[in-house]
Amino acid sequence: MNVQLNKQPADNLAQALRTFNESTIKLQQAYDVLQLKFGALNRKLEETNRELSSKVIEISEIKEYLNSILQSVTNGVIAVNLNDEITAFNKAAEQITHLNREEVIGRPFSEVFETDFGADFKGASEAAPRGTPCISCNMQVRGNYPFPVRESASLTRDGSGKVTGAVKVFEDLTELRELEEQARRQDRLAALGQMAATVAHEIRNPLGGIEGFASLLARDFDEGDPRSKLVTKIQEGARSLNRVVNELLMFTRPMKLDFRKVDVANLVEGTLGFLSEEIKKSGIDVSKKLGSAGLKVLCDGEQLKRALFNIVLNAVQAMPHGGSLTIGCRKKSLSREARQMLGHTRNGRWLELSIKDSGPGIEENEIPRIFNPFYTTKEKGTGLGLAIAAKIIEAHRGQVTAHNSPRGGAVFVISLPFEGQ
Ligand SMILES: Nc1ncnc2c1ncn2[C@@H]1O[C@H](COP(=O)(O)OP(=O)(O)OP(=O)(O)O)[C@@H](O)[C@H]1O
Ligand SMILES: [Mg+2]
Repeated sequence: MNVQLNKQPADNLAQALRTFNESTIKLQQAYDVLQLKFGALNRKLEETNRELSSKVIEISEIKEYLNSILQSVTNGVIAVNLNDEITAFNKAAEQITHLNREEVIGRPFSEVFETDFGADFKGASEAAPRGTPCISCNMQVRGNYPFPVRESASLTRDGSGKVTGAVKVFEDLTELRELEEQARRQDRLAALGQMAATVAHEIRNPLGGIEGFASLLARDFDEGDPRSKLVTKIQEGARSLNRVVNELLMFTRPMKLDFRKVDVANLVEGTLGFLSEEIKKSGIDVSKKLGSAGLKVLCDGEQLKRALFNIVLNAVQAMPHGGSLTIGCRKKSLSREARQMLGHTRNGRWLELSIKDSGPGIEENEIPRIFNPFYTTKEKGTGLGLAIAAKIIEAHRGQVTAHNSPRGGAVFVISLPFEGQ
């Protein structure tokens, strides 16, 4: 009985130990499986992490790539969101509008520009057309002059087609319009020139007679004779008429140029030298920004000096009570269209000489007329100075344009083909 009683617990214990051992083995197996699964999961996680970070790098590379495309296109690009706030403004937009990206990003388009965006996206439905056609119009930064552009605007949408804002792509047409104006001017000048040549010819002969007879008369009068004063007046009048006739003939005759390499600084110094008296008398401050030293241009130095003289003389005359005269020089590249229009297939490099004064400027709607012969607003002007300057510059296959500076005063820009370094 006793033996029986003792055997029972021992069996139970053995059974319990077996069960325990079995459970431990099962647990160990389950643990091993779990560890295997965990390892696999860990590897998967690492892989996903790697993929994710390479995706992030890829996305930031794509973003950078798209941004560099946006920055390097030669057309201006401006994007706005649905609140009309500017969200993108590329480099070309900065150059065309003279605004900095930092100062416009986040500001409403209508606060920065006088002109409309050109895309009606407010409340635009998903079915709204994607963009407006390319049109020529004006663009205007608030507080500045408008300038001609060719532009098109489109709505921007997210992946589901919902309108998120609009983007405008535009191209500056200022240079092209100026060239068109120059072509029109040349047509007008050709007709005027022919007429002027005939008139000059007709005046020249009788004028020679008047001058000759006046000097004969002068010899007949004593010094104190009051009539000799009248003769002097006739002689003065004939001389001034002679100057006009000579200028007219110089304007109408075909121009022969003697091309040489001329130092730009010498050209400017020589011109200012002729006018040093007037500049000093009016108390004008002259500043020269001639860029790299020793810049040389292939031209007829004497003729170009004459053109520069006429333009600088006007600037000096526009500031009788003092002011500032700035003469600048820089190298620049013309746009492809501008080159085509000028018939230049060369390297497209130009030398730009600018003459800026702080006078009253030119009346805006008179600007197209100032290069016409005989256009003058001066009591004693003949109106031939700019016509001659333009003719000389055009004979160099260059161009001259005029505009008012936003800060006041007139700016004349002479562009000449430039082959040097
Ligand atoms: N820097 C300037 N600022 C303001 N107006 C100017 C300037 N340059 C030219 N103009 C305007 O253009 C007109 C034409 O100039 P242009 O040199 O051809 O003739 P002019 O100076 O009147 O006479 P001239 O034959 O004696 O030169 C001027 O009368 C003037 O109204
Ligand atoms: Mg003049």
